[in-house]
Amino acid sequence: MKRRLVSVLIGMTMAAAMLSGCGGSSDTATDEAADDTAAEASGDEAEASGDLITVGYAQVGHESDWRTANTENYQNTFTAENGYELSFVDADNDNAAQIEAVRSFIQQELDYIVIAPIETAGWDTVLQEAEDAGIPVIIADREIDTTNFDAFVGTDTEAEGETAGNWLGEYLDGAEANILVIEGSVGASATLGRTEGFNTIAAEHPEWTILDSQSGDFTQSGGQEVMESFIKSYEGQFNVVVCQNDNEAYGAMDAMDAAGITYGVDGDVIIISFDATHDGMQYTLDGKINCNVECNPIQAEVVESVIQIMEAGEEYPERTIVPDEAFVAPGITSAYATTITQEILDGRAY
Ligand code: AHR
Repeated sequence: MKRRLVSVLIGMTMAAAMLSGCGGSSDTATDEAADDTAAEASGDEAEASGDLITVGYAQVGHESDWRTANTENYQNTFTAENGYELSFVDADNDNAAQIEAVRSFIQQELDYIVIAPIETAGWDTVLQEAEDAGIPVIIADREIDTTNFDAFVGTDTEAEGETAGNWLGEYLDGAEANILVIEGSVGASATLGRTEGFNTIAAEHPEWTILDSQSGDFTQSGGQEVMESFIKSYEGQFNVVVCQNDNEAYGAMDAMDAAGITYGVDGDVIIISFDATHDGMQYTLDGKINCNVECNPIQAEVVESVIQIMEAGEEYPERTIVPDEAFVAPGITSAYATTITQEILDGRAY
């Protein structure tokens, strides 16, 4: 039977508390070692008695560094030591394959299903099948356009787009912008949200023109191809490139390098990126990316917290927004973003 409980909306503070609580960062080293030993022992017992909680994770694919960090986060969280058996499927950005993966989780009668949906559309039927089977579903990372699931855990991608736009407005301070956008995958909520958020701010700036907007599919090769084609059409006409993830930004930088176009804090073109994964942050520290808006991939601990609340039969949060930050290159100060330092980069988990 489906354990649909009264839901509550929890915000960034509680999400942060859940994350830090799971990390146990305030414990002493001795306490942590004792906790680890106890967790391993109870995990071993659960494993031996067949009491592991079975969780299926239908992952988007492996298109980006962000996705790799997110996959590793799930694989390191849903372990036998922590009391779980994880069934992981990489759908390779194929919507039909992802839906079939969920169907197979239902057939296997797993205890929980977690989906990072490739696209917002097409989920009604399979989610009804999960509901009929009494399996709770948590939608993670990206959103969908239906409501027949139990909980959502992910970032606010529209706010990410707004942050990028607000930073650009602050940086340009009334100067003209001729903008090219390399969007993420078509139909993905991360694409739709970032586009919507950025366009909302762009609409407040009559001095900005969005020259063109094309999908780079959240990949480096996609970003490079789109940028090469933009250069053919708009060379000399643009001064801002918005890349909706770091991998697209790497491809766009390769294309601009090949065409002899300079970018970053000392160049002719401003680059905005999203994700703030390790290499994207390095490029920001190097001044090649002007502004990098984080999309936090470390979400599995929050999903695990929701599952634990469901297991206890208590009220669980229906919607948990994982907090993000934004970073700007050295030499830039901003009300919307933190100026990156080597120390910040060294302290990051992904
Ligand atoms: O849904 C999150 C987005 O998907 C990340 O920005 C991107 O890198 C990934 O592929």
